[in-house]
Amino acid sequence: PIKKMWGGRFEAAGDQLVDTFGASIGFDQAMAKEDIMGSLAHVKMLKATKILSAADADQIIAGLEKLADRLEKEGLPFTVENEDIHMNIETLLTEEIGPVAGKLHTARSRNDQVATDLHLYVKKRLPKIVDLLTKLQTALVDKAAANVKTVMPGYTHMQHAQPISYGHYLLAYFQMFQRDVERFQFNMKHTDISPLGAAALAGTTFPIDRELSASLLGFAAPYANSLDAVSDRDFALEFLSNASILMVHLSRLCEELIYWCSYEFGYIELADQYATGSSIMPQKKNPDMAELIRGKTGRIFGDLTGLLTVMKGLPLAYNKDMQEDKEGIFDAVKTIVPSLQVMTGMIRTLHVNKKKMEHATHNDFSNATELADYLATKGVPFRQAHEIVGELVLKGLKTGANLADIPLEQYQQINPQITADVYEVLKPHVAIARRHSLGGTGFDQVKEQIAAARKIIEKN
Ligand code: ARG
Repeated sequence: PIKKMWGGRFEAAGDQLVDTFGASIGFDQAMAKEDIMGSLAHVKMLKATKILSAADADQIIAGLEKLADRLEKEGLPFTVENEDIHMNIETLLTEEIGPVAGKLHTARSRNDQVATDLHLYVKKRLPKIVDLLTKLQTALVDKAAANVKTVMPGYTHMQHAQPISYGHYLLAYFQMFQRDVERFQFNMKHTDISPLGAAALAGTTFPIDRELSASLLGFAAPYANSLDAVSDRDFALEFLSNASILMVHLSRLCEELIYWCSYEFGYIELADQYATGSSIMPQKKNPDMAELIRGKTGRIFGDLTGLLTVMKGLPLAYNKDMQEDKEGIFDAVKTIVPSLQVMTGMIRTLHVNKKKMEHATHNDFSNATELADYLATKGVPFRQAHEIVGELVLKGLKTGANLADIPLEQYQQINPQITADVYEVLKPHVAIARRHSLGGTGFDQVKEQIAAARKIIEKN
């Protein structure tokens, strides 16, 4: 076993199994770039404050830049012996520039270093996720614009409720994803803070300039409290919680896509690229991608639950438990990015069976509310109107007649004020068109929602 960077006070050589168990390089190498950036800012600050001589600092800067270049071009050789990304980078730096590399860790600890890396990692990915969300929103709005007048049954309890516009349905998801955008944007506030210079937990005796290293890294400000700086993972929890809520939305949408491309519904057909066949049943076209996104929701909830549980009992300040904070974050990024991309393509390319959707509203009683409302406008108290229509539905279910099939004279026996215009009111597209209330499914309202949505997308 090689000599540990922190090995001074130890006598015995390490145990290989224990060293491997404790090492994080297997996953924290995903933050290699962030680690080098953090070190560059730190050494530039050490130079500006004259804690290090310009000559030493410049050697370290040149060495770090060389490593950044190598990382970009061919990757860097990391080893488990060097435990984590921080000590791996420092070892490689020593190989590049010799013992002067040892001065880099002046006025710093791995505790503020790792927190800085993770902040940088999340900070960089937030705008990318907002951008992908916006692309999905655009796909939904475009699809809605092409389907303002597409009539479908609206459901409650998975039972036909009232007819709605398919465009209106799509815009409901637009709104959910807009709240996701806003949550990820807010996530930036608690991510855009620099832990660097908090050192191990208590700050340092060196005359460091935390504002400078923060601004060199593009952070809005340094953390106000050094204990908080090294032990706060709220920004990571917020990220995972935002990712979880986002996956709830994607998963609900998937659930409907899966139902709707089934034989029983037939409302939509997925483009071939977003579906898969069966190795035994030649006729199959399966919505695997929607199922996979729905399934991946579970791992994101796991990532969130995992980190919440890691953090819940931790005393201040740093504890090694916190090494477990990273994999969930990396996994969440790796999961939500392609989930958003696949969903965007799936929405853009899906075929809408407009006839089938509308047909489903003709042989049902989803116009029952229209009839009750109609009676109410003729002076029948709504409760009574509800009862009357309920009885008509019951009868219709037994005889196979829809409300539109009931002859006018029968209607007039119920209430002499009913006239032929009742049949107009019972038409599904009329039921939709008349819902002018703000945010309702009325075609005019849907058009306004689309215009508003396009403006929101521009601002994201
Ligand atoms: N690999 C460690 C982590 O991910 C880095 C910080 C280690 N600090 C320490 N005092 N052991 O959390």
